[in-house]
Amino acid sequence: MKSIYINGGKKLSGEVSISGAKNAALPILAAGLLCGGKHRITNVPQLADVTTFGRILQNMGIAFERQGHEITIDSTGLTNPEAPYDLVRTMRASVLVLGPLVARMGKARVSLPGGCAIGARPINLHLMGLEKLGATVEIEHGYVVASAKKLRGAHICFDTVTVTGTENLMMAAALAEGETTLENAAREPEIVDLAHALIQMGAKIEGAGTDVIRIQGVENLRPMDYTVMPDRIETGTFVIAAAITNGDILIKNCFAGHLDAVISKVTEAGAIVTATDHTIHVQGQRVIRPVNVKTLEYPGFPTDMQAQIMSLMALADGASMINETIFENRFTHVAELRRMGADIQTDGRTAIIKGVPKLSAAPVMATDLRASASLILAGLAAEGQTVISRIYHLDRGYDNIEQKLSALGADIRRA
Ligand code: EPU
Repeated sequence: MKSIYINGGKKLSGEVSISGAKNAALPILAAGLLCGGKHRITNVPQLADVTTFGRILQNMGIAFERQGHEITIDSTGLTNPEAPYDLVRTMRASVLVLGPLVARMGKARVSLPGGCAIGARPINLHLMGLEKLGATVEIEHGYVVASAKKLRGAHICFDTVTVTGTENLMMAAALAEGETTLENAAREPEIVDLAHALIQMGAKIEGAGTDVIRIQGVENLRPMDYTVMPDRIETGTFVIAAAITNGDILIKNCFAGHLDAVISKVTEAGAIVTATDHTIHVQGQRVIRPVNVKTLEYPGFPTDMQAQIMSLMALADGASMINETIFENRFTHVAELRRMGADIQTDGRTAIIKGVPKLSAAPVMATDLRASASLILAGLAAEGQTVISRIYHLDRGYDNIEQKLSALGADIRRA
């Protein structure tokens, strides 16, 4: 199995262009299940998770073709509304097929995802919402088996904010009879992107991006021709790459407005950040100041950037505290960062990071997607050669990261 080798200590500089958002592309691909005909989706990142999603669709009888960053799907031939365990267990986002399948086919059999490295990650709220829409939901042999003659609009209030739960129910409600209200809905930009794709397909949705979304069900939808939004987590990862290497990077093809919380923290840490609507210019500084971070739902600081900012704080001039409020086990990178000389103590969901003047390169292991990004960032700043194994996690969510970092002057390769 391949590893990533980084010879650290290089200041990164130059321009980088951001790819399409993984967490928008996956629900938008799922939306393609809602009606037959040829959907065209562009700016789709080239990632293992997209390949997995394609396999899930093909297994249902759907034509899925990828050419570079463009995907066409034709779900006219959808005959098998099922997502098998072998595919779902590698990618939890597979659960996004559940809502669209029940809405269009009146039935779905989708493997329960099970836990993952960052937490238990239940889907009870997805199931509660489907039941409110009139579906019968059973768990049989590890599968969610859901059926409904016709979904009916309902008032659904989430007791916890859930991103894919909101997406699943927004898609299901698009074809339900009557009006659905989703209260305490997630406000992430990816929800808004999915809503725009659904509206282009003929759905009637208001309020996406706020915590109350209203969906007026329609009889039929039509195929979409949609361009996925830029990836805000990839963008944030490059913001930190500039800050941690005392570099100078112009990030292009992004939406700066999606990163207010990240930009605010990195600025507080001392970097000079200048943003326009679609570019972010980050100039790192020699001294990194400590900042406290608490992860929250959007527009708060994203949990998907927690590991990356921890690498930055590992090199800060003082102590900082990071509080992870979204997932119960999202500190698996801590033990690996410690192997590189970081001084980090954790207590439950809180980490205290005492900045050290230098990190030292070491062999480390990626434990999940964003943890791998934090190790790459630490490796870029560390002295010597860092070798990161289990990089399949990285390939799930970062499009061409070695090429992008090499073009900025990093000494990074896969072998
Ligand atoms: N939760 C429940 N019940 C549910 C659903 C969620 O209790 O039915 C809890 C979870 O256990 C968690 C919290 O609600 O404590 C938030 O989870 P959420 O459902 O919002 O997470 P998700 O939809 O499974 C998406 C992203 C994640 C990202 C989170 C939080 C996709 C495909 N995945 O996951 O992305 O961390 O929202 O922002 O959109 C990543 O890209 O690395 C990644 C993990």
